[in-house]
Amino acid sequence: MVQPTRDDHFSFGLWTVGWPAADPFGTATRPWLDPVESVHRLSDLGAWGVTFHDDDLLPFGSTPDERSRILTRFRAALDETGLVVPMMTTNTFTHPVFKDGAFTSNDRGVRRFALRKILRNLDLAAELGASTYVFWGGREGAEVDSGKDIRAALDRYREGIDTLAAYVKEQGYGIRFAIEPKPNEPRGDILLPTLGHALAFIAGLEHGDIVGVNPEVGHEQMAGLNYSAGIAQALWAGKLFHLDLNGQRGIKYDQDLIFGHGDLINAFSLVDLIEHGAPGGGPAYDGPRHFDYKPLRTEDVTGVWDSAAANMRTYLLLKERAAAFRADPEVQAALATAGVAELSTPTLNPGETLADLAADRTAFEDYDADKAGERGYGFGKLNQLAVEHLMGAR
Ligand code: GCO
Ligand code: MN
Ligand code: MN
Ligand code: MN
Repeated sequence: MVQPTRDDHFSFGLWTVGWPAADPFGTATRPWLDPVESVHRLSDLGAWGVTFHDDDLLPFGSTPDERSRILTRFRAALDETGLVVPMMTTNTFTHPVFKDGAFTSNDRGVRRFALRKILRNLDLAAELGASTYVFWGGREGAEVDSGKDIRAALDRYREGIDTLAAYVKEQGYGIRFAIEPKPNEPRGDILLPTLGHALAFIAGLEHGDIVGVNPEVGHEQMAGLNYSAGIAQALWAGKLFHLDLNGQRGIKYDQDLIFGHGDLINAFSLVDLIEHGAPGGGPAYDGPRHFDYKPLRTEDVTGVWDSAAANMRTYLLLKERAAAFRADPEVQAALATAGVAELSTPTLNPGETLADLAADRTAFEDYDADKAGERGYGFGKLNQLAVEHLMGAR
């Protein structure tokens, strides 16, 4: 059960296991990892897919010859292993040209260059069969309030996404976009800082039908938010196109820990939600289970592959525990006490008008608010059952 298989749809970014672990205070602690080796190792561990930024595979500034040589080797590795490329994305943050952003740089030439860089990689994504294209706007932001006209920046962000989405439709690529929110780091304040901001932005797009979100566990938690609750809202909106699983311990720098190595209780409710859907039914997520984590800087190459395996193992263990939680009659009783299913009943009767409600004395005049206020919902007991299942104590 805890041995990952292709059917689990686990995918990893090349930049995750391949991170050489340079940080702002220290140089790399691990050697460069050949993407071809990553493909083989991930495949051996039971992963299903590999994802990447253009520059993870094809270094910035590669000549056409270098690009085709690298791509030939990479495709051969995919063919040998059967690994797929479900998602691709663009690096619009490492090169100094992007220091003030890509879609939203104050410098118009940079914005035009960014569009071209993304366009070229979208063509490659279509060739490799990717169905999701992620936009993580890490440099789209500011440190200085008066240095960025946020309204103009959002206009340019919208222009960029809509222009590229129109292109994808024209070309008939079967690709959808997924915007990845993050509140800060590397910029002091990043545009579209949370999943909610991104959903509101998407609602104003011309081609928003093919644009959804790619929420990352740690990024929502860096904003002090509840990840699984956010994922539920994204599902509710029909916009959960992809997700980035990892771990984070509180409001601090982006840790990109192994999945479950942060808020484990929230990871449990997340896996329960995306595997089983809402308690009363409702859509579960059927896209890739994508890990966007970083092996700790303290690890050697052995630790890299141990940590990759740990992400999948933790996920599968949580899936097993969540199934036991759902099947437990005591949990069902606690859910009933809490009235969880009752929330799915509309507040008004079928066909009932507001005038009908106003005429319903049982809803107000004869309603015993004090008695209703005495109700115990038993949420604490319900959560204890979750914790005990999570701990393997039940
Ligand atoms: C982060 C982000 C990035 C993006 C990735 C995709 O940790 O800040 O997760 O890793 O997901 O760059 O574009
Ligand atoms: Mn992150
Ligand atoms: Mn991410
Ligand atoms: Mn990351």
